[in-house]
Amino acid sequence: MKEISGTDQNKNEISMKDQMKKFLIKSLYGFLTVLMFGLGRRVGILDYLQEKAKSEYNTDKVSSVTFTIEEVSEKLNLERNYVDAWTHTALECGLLEIDDSCERCLRTAPYVYDLLINRNQPAYVGDPLGAFYYLASYQDLILDAFKKDGNVPNFEFTDEVIHDINRMSARFGTLIERIFSTNFKNFCEKLHNQGTILAAGCGYGYNLQVWAKKYDKARFVGIDIDPTAISHAKNMVEQNKWKDRIEIFQSQINEYAKKTEKKFDLILLNQVLHEMDHDINYRLSVFNSLCSLLKNDGILLVGESMIPETFAPSQKLLLFDVLHKFLEARFANFYNEKTFREFIDSTPFTRTEFIKEGGNSIWVIRK
Ligand SMILES: C[S@@+](CC[C@H](N)C(=O)[O-])C[C@H]1O[C@@H](n2cnc3c(N)ncnc32)[C@H](O)[C@@H]1O
Repeated sequence: MKEISGTDQNKNEISMKDQMKKFLIKSLYGFLTVLMFGLGRRVGILDYLQEKAKSEYNTDKVSSVTFTIEEVSEKLNLERNYVDAWTHTALECGLLEIDDSCERCLRTAPYVYDLLINRNQPAYVGDPLGAFYYLASYQDLILDAFKKDGNVPNFEFTDEVIHDINRMSARFGTLIERIFSTNFKNFCEKLHNQGTILAAGCGYGYNLQVWAKKYDKARFVGIDIDPTAISHAKNMVEQNKWKDRIEIFQSQINEYAKKTEKKFDLILLNQVLHEMDHDINYRLSVFNSLCSLLKNDGILLVGESMIPETFAPSQKLLLFDVLHKFLEARFANFYNEKTFREFIDSTPFTRTEFIKEGGNSIWVIRK
């Protein structure tokens, strides 16, 4: 058999240098970009730049913000050399560029203000990036979990991380609302006209806020077991002056079902399943409760990552879904389309539709 030597290789084949540029160098820049973004956000530089843009331009349509190292260091009481190191690295990563209009000035690179600083922009991707940033500090837990008979990680996230994860899952909530409203126009019209919506596992209320703005005549109840999330959600209701149409309770789904007589047109269960106790009997009891809380013609809308089997052909960008695998690997029962349908078939619900659009999907479940 002929050995394949370097000279026999296809001329179009990629060289080691190309490959280095393709993933090694690119990934290093990507990794540092996430780190600089995360650090900049945690020490307050990004919020400072957003405030500065708001006060200088009085509009959300800002193309870039100019600043100096000394200014950031003074205003935020940060060590100058560290601000310099952060700035230099962010400059090298393409987050910033030199602004020649003043001496030793920098400005945010094109679109960086919209993508990474302005939280009010629909294009803002800071929350998923923030979640990736925090994941780095959970490596030790994941490392232990790899070891046979090692400690099973409990992923006790800090409040800062939980807050970020909530903001990220709320973004998925916006995407599922879009799919739902385009596919169920009549149902959504009914919701617009004084429907009732339960946000089960409402978290910090970010997703609830999106739905409450869109369905502005609907009445809502938000419940969650996390007291910090509940107090944040209550604040959100107060700030928006929604007390007459949104109630927030600290309650587990089964408990709430036991103590209320209310029935809802729509129940949202967005990004809750992967955080819910994995005991199958417990989950069945929760779905029994959800069924009892729904009107006969109501809809349970589930938004959750469906994680295909490793060797299934990848039809879309799976980065976020695949990362969920780490959170759930200890239970070894994350859902894919087939297993989630099987699970729903074992509950009192009788009709299940799976709708996939682009990289996102929803489950529409009925009695
Ligand atoms: C990732 S957050 C999603 C929050 C919200 N649904 C959203 O889309 O923004 C998941 C939330 O589910 C809550 N949760 C998990 N199990 C629950 C249960 N059995 N009853 C009520 N809340 C629950 C958690 O406390 C957490 O706040």
